[in-house]
Amino acid sequence: MSVPSAGLKGIKTVRDFELEGKTVFLRLDLNVPLEGTKITDETRITASLPTINYCLEKGAKLIVASHLGRPKSADDKKYSMEPVAKRLTELLNREVVLMEEPSSEGVKHILYGNMKNQIILLENLRFDEGETENSPQLAQQWASYSDIYINDAFGASHRAHASIHALPEIMPRKGIGFLIEKEIKMLDSLTDKPKKPYIAVLGGAKISDKIAVIEKLMDIVDGFVIGGAMAYTFLKAQNIPVGKSLVETDKLKYAKEMIERIEARNKSLLLPVDHIVSTEFGNVENKKVTSSAVIDENYMGLDIGPKTVKNYSVALENAATVFWNGPMGVFENKAFCEGTFAIAKALAESKALKIVGGGDSAAAAEASGYADKMSHISTGGGASLEYLQGEKLPGLEVLRPRKQSEQVPV
Ligand code: 3PG
Repeated sequence: MSVPSAGLKGIKTVRDFELEGKTVFLRLDLNVPLEGTKITDETRITASLPTINYCLEKGAKLIVASHLGRPKSADDKKYSMEPVAKRLTELLNREVVLMEEPSSEGVKHILYGNMKNQIILLENLRFDEGETENSPQLAQQWASYSDIYINDAFGASHRAHASIHALPEIMPRKGIGFLIEKEIKMLDSLTDKPKKPYIAVLGGAKISDKIAVIEKLMDIVDGFVIGGAMAYTFLKAQNIPVGKSLVETDKLKYAKEMIERIEARNKSLLLPVDHIVSTEFGNVENKKVTSSAVIDENYMGLDIGPKTVKNYSVALENAATVFWNGPMGVFENKAFCEGTFAIAKALAESKALKIVGGGDSAAAAEASGYADKMSHISTGGGASLEYLQGEKLPGLEVLRPRKQSEQVPV
């Protein structure tokens, strides 16, 4: 038997429960990106299938629940779960009944009928404001027809919402699914005796979004590799001209101190030594490569340059553990995606354990074509960062026994 990850201490998994004939309330994160009714990335759906299939194989009656986007009201029909219901029907080859009015009576009607080969999918939980308000009444309603609560919505586990927190708080039988189990094990391997050398590749627009994770990793990693607009703040903090590039002026002092602290610890900090720049954001005509880290007055940095890619790739080739969070440039624009994709390629070729944070980094790994070469790509953006920073996720904490002497019943 494998040793449970520290972050999962005391938490039951779906394997621990007798599911035959039981009604399982399965909270998933099926918050997928849509263009109209077209799902443009179904990763979160496919990542949820192992737990769904397991519950079905074990003879459970399944109520699947998720939020989708951030609707203002129930009339915001563009956030309907209908496209997800359709895709789930295809993937599972079973009827998925979308409960447009997820009132207890409607759901009970189906549950107590001859429910065979059907799955109930509740309409977008956020259509009811009680969800984001962590409403005990709403939780009570769901609890009235559920025997077992399973959370497999890693991406939403940092939200204290009714389906993530209030419901499991009143459910005696509760645990996690396979996706959360894997996410936590992978993220724990980044802070619990990681293999060395260990490199954190951080990118994206702002240092301010990454301060907590930098602080957490400062004493664990052997080096930081910095790209994206946050690199310009680090360069500027060393008095290197960065032209019109995005700089967080209120973080210059922090960047300077961080450089000093990294040096004092004898760790490495790799910053861009050249850039892809242009005169305006997204302007392709005036795109050029700089010869050094300096960016001329009328230009702004939009991607890392080829010499930087080379330096970063060497560091990744020699690493044993890599955490990647944040793109190296404006990768959504084809003219400025090369740096980010080259880092994805270097990671793909590295033998390191490579874990990619969710959100933009997951999208970048996917767009690069190297997603399947990563050890793990988190399905949670905010959730993975918060967890890594050492914050307690409400959706996990509520599943632990209240006292050490207690156990969650099975
Ligand atoms: C996400 O996309 O990160 C999760 O589904 C959570 O969504 P939220 O940020 O709207 O709560």
